Amino acid sequence: MQHSDKTSLTADEWDELNFPRPEENEFDRVVERALSRRGFLQGVLVLGSGAAAMSGGLLGSSALKAAESVSSRFPFLPIAAQTDGTVHVPEGYAWKALARWGDPLFSDADDYDIAEGGPVAKSDRIFGENTDGMETFVYHGHQLIAINHEYVNPEVNLPVAQKGVPANADDVAKLKNLQGVTVMEIAQADNGWHVVKDSPFNRRITHNTPMKIVGPAAGHDLMKTAADATGTASLGTMNNCGSGKTPWGTYLTCEENFNGYFGATAQTPLPEDVKDGYKRYGINAEGAGYDYHKWDERFDTSKNPNEPHRFGWVVEIDPTDPKSTPVKHTGLGRFKHENAEVVLAADGRVVVYMGDDERGEYLYKFVSDGTYVPGGSTDGLLDDGTLFAARFNEDGTGEWLALTPETTGMGKAEMLIFARKAASAVSATTMDRPEWISANPFAVEAYCCLTNNKNRGLKTNAGGDETPVGGPNPREANKYGQIVRWRPHDDDHAGNTFDWDLYVMAGNPTVHQDAYAGSENVTPGNMFNSPDGMAFDQNGLVWIQTDGADSNEGDFAGQGNNQMLVGDPVTGEIARFLTGPKGSEVTGLCWSADRRTMFVGIQHPGGDWPDGNGALPRSTVIAITRNDGHLIG
Ligand code: FEO
Ligand code: CA
Ligand code: CA
Repeated sequence: MQHSDKTSLTADEWDELNFPRPEENEFDRVVERALSRRGFLQGVLVLGSGAAAMSGGLLGSSALKAAESVSSRFPFLPIAAQTDGTVHVPEGYAWKALARWGDPLFSDADDYDIAEGGPVAKSDRIFGENTDGMETFVYHGHQLIAINHEYVNPEVNLPVAQKGVPANADDVAKLKNLQGVTVMEIAQADNGWHVVKDSPFNRRITHNTPMKIVGPAAGHDLMKTAADATGTASLGTMNNCGSGKTPWGTYLTCEENFNGYFGATAQTPLPEDVKDGYKRYGINAEGAGYDYHKWDERFDTSKNPNEPHRFGWVVEIDPTDPKSTPVKHTGLGRFKHENAEVVLAADGRVVVYMGDDERGEYLYKFVSDGTYVPGGSTDGLLDDGTLFAARFNEDGTGEWLALTPETTGMGKAEMLIFARKAASAVSATTMDRPEWISANPFAVEAYCCLTNNKNRGLKTNAGGDETPVGGPNPREANKYGQIVRWRPHDDDHAGNTFDWDLYVMAGNPTVHQDAYAGSENVTPGNMFNSPDGMAFDQNGLVWIQTDGADSNEGDFAGQGNNQMLVGDPVTGEIARFLTGPKGSEVTGLCWSADRRTMFVGIQHPGGDWPDGNGALPRSTVIAITRNDGHLIG
């Protein structure tokens, strides 16, 4: 998420404002940082023989010039950076909107009303706002797609006169309904892909949908509320950011900045562990502006102090059964989940890689106790096992640190509910905001976007852990981001040790000559900032989406709007494939079953995209195809 609601702050900036991290600038630590940076640069990768840096290119340098720097493994001519209000793809490709915020999923829902934002009664019958992670599924010949709706802009969903401030419980209900997840059937006709309106598979999952809570923290006292004395039955999933897919065909949706939906109407004393958890996870009395707590006691932490503990999880959804109850898996830990990348270890154990997207938080891995057997029971495979946090050493090795009662001094349930504190206890490496993780289908390795971190080397994380410059986080006040990758020793994703390097350090070689120029595979023709979404395709290429500064000025001059690029993991080469409309973030990526269509999310666009003529800009999922009908990934 780049924008928050009415404050226009990112969720991370909102946390920073409410829970300011201490300034740190002692001389000794500055020296230490400088040394570790030098050490890193000596060992930094030299990538991409064909990616020699070009000089002098700026925005407007032709696509041809950009193309000079890339290999023929990319079946397209890279495009130039753009600053306009639409989507661009390479010659020979085309895009078309599949679903826009407000599109009815059922014929009994009204068309979207721009002035009033649509009636509350049918607000859970339409496509939600601000799409993010998504995955496709095929079931009995039906093509299904599950799509996250990360957050909502109250200003444009409530009557204009209210300026985004909910005036009653109905307003809050409407905002709740426009977020969460959509599962829907899609089909392809002569004029492209469309939503199958009224399909029995169509379903909206909202901030109120009944959920089951399972795993080691289910039923713990910290999970119990006035409405649920069992601590095993909750309502809703929220701030659904990245996604994942299990080998058994279910959808994983990841709860990220859940903290901003809570507030307090009164001051009440809280138990120490709860108070401490609020601080670490950024929950305060004011909330981020959604005002749920003023109209729904469930979100009022002075009345329901444990309700926030029931969010921040990975949720499993069966897209083939619209009556199924989504399941929150506490075994995967509670933090600001970006996505959940599931791989199988050689012995069949389930490994889930996960990032916690906040400045100075951690990278996690879950390894199941049991093994996955196709057609067998999957009970416990996302809960019974061990959660680890990553430590990256300066010498290019790393280890997964098990979070257990012995290593953390915390009970098993507390350790999962307050996973951040558990990872701090084992001194895992504080990271530059881990976003999406994707595993290479052709090599035993995984990649993680570290989007940026203006506090790197300057401030601690919310738990007071230091964030020294070094290792995979090599630049102070990191404004561009990088992608780290790791290769498990013995080719075993379930193992405890790995080697790591940086696939790319984003930067601007037209503005900087130092480490902020980026790594050697960054050129004036492909430069970008803030890598975020990411997915490998079936050709072994990695697609990279950005959510960063699109000012096209200063440090970001020549980088244009947010974009999607494709990287070759072998050569390091990177080419720009798509540019988004001004103001948008490009996020969410998946393919049709025949791989001839790529679905891409355009979140929070500016201007009047995609409808034009002064229409309200709408978050939209687009379908991209090749004009020659060939595979696209
Ligand atoms: Fe929702 Fe970290 O992106
Ligand atoms: Ca993201
Ligand atoms: Ca982001």
